[in-house]
Amino acid sequence: PTASTPDLPARYALAQRVAQQAAERGLAYYQGREDLNIEHKGGDRRDMVSAADCTLEDFIRAELQAAFPEDGFLGEESGSADLQARCLWVVDPIDGTACFLNGLHNWCVSIGMLLDGEPYIGAVADPNHRELFHGMRGQGAFVNDQPLRVSSASHVREGLLGVGTFYARGTEHFIPFLTQLLAEGGMFLRNGSGALMTAYVAAGRLLGYYETLLKSWDCVAGLVLVAEAGGRSNDFLRGDGLLQGNPYLVACPGVYQHVREMIGPMLDQD
Ligand code: IPD
Ligand code: CA
Ligand code: CA
Ligand code: CA
Repeated sequence: PTASTPDLPARYALAQRVAQQAAERGLAYYQGREDLNIEHKGGDRRDMVSAADCTLEDFIRAELQAAFPEDGFLGEESGSADLQARCLWVVDPIDGTACFLNGLHNWCVSIGMLLDGEPYIGAVADPNHRELFHGMRGQGAFVNDQPLRVSSASHVREGLLGVGTFYARGTEHFIPFLTQLLAEGGMFLRNGSGALMTAYVAAGRLLGYYETLLKSWDCVAGLVLVAEAGGRSNDFLRGDGLLQGNPYLVACPGVYQHVREMIGPMLDQD
């Protein structure tokens, strides 16, 4: 392949391998075999980062860079390089840090790749449950080797809706949304990892997932999974979404429109 025709299957295989290896390294920290050295971003006790987050991101970034030096990179902990590259890796080394640091199993490694600005490759590795969610545009999505399919439900009563909100982000729409969801017979789940909840939508375990404001490293990988599994999503990357984040909704086709109406216009406004 030349520089103008990126080798996408090779990048898909790389994403899966590196996500798995990073997840195994994460387990060594999680199980207490490595020192976590916890710090608080900007001194805020609610926004934690550990040596595991930074070490895993450095490992992932080095592996991707070694294999494809021409590609760009955006990660939660180490920032960005070559954002204009055709292939742009978007990485969260540990999604679910609060769970990770509190001994809860809901965390994962999320490695996504944009091709020309569109989500194209996704790998989400959950070592505690031995699940690797992966997909590439046009090739389907899988958990380990099982194909993923979103739920066939047609009403929020028929299952669980993932929800999320981060302490420092606009929450004024959130409580009215939950009130309406409950009034309609729905039920919500917040497990602390947006990347995992997105993978669970692709797998049909959750009907959908709504977060008031998510970052691109939380969901670029998952957006590939959801699209390949037959789900819908809002225009998450619009505007400055890649760098600043946006409100986020993914869902199976049978409930997407209704959940979107419950959220209201803020879903696709700034
Ligand atoms: C967080 C998780 C959480 C979501 C937050 C994210 P982090 O990511 O995805 O589920 O509600 O908005 O910031 O900090 O654990 O990587
Ligand atoms: Ca995250
Ligand atoms: Ca993270
Ligand atoms: Ca974080």
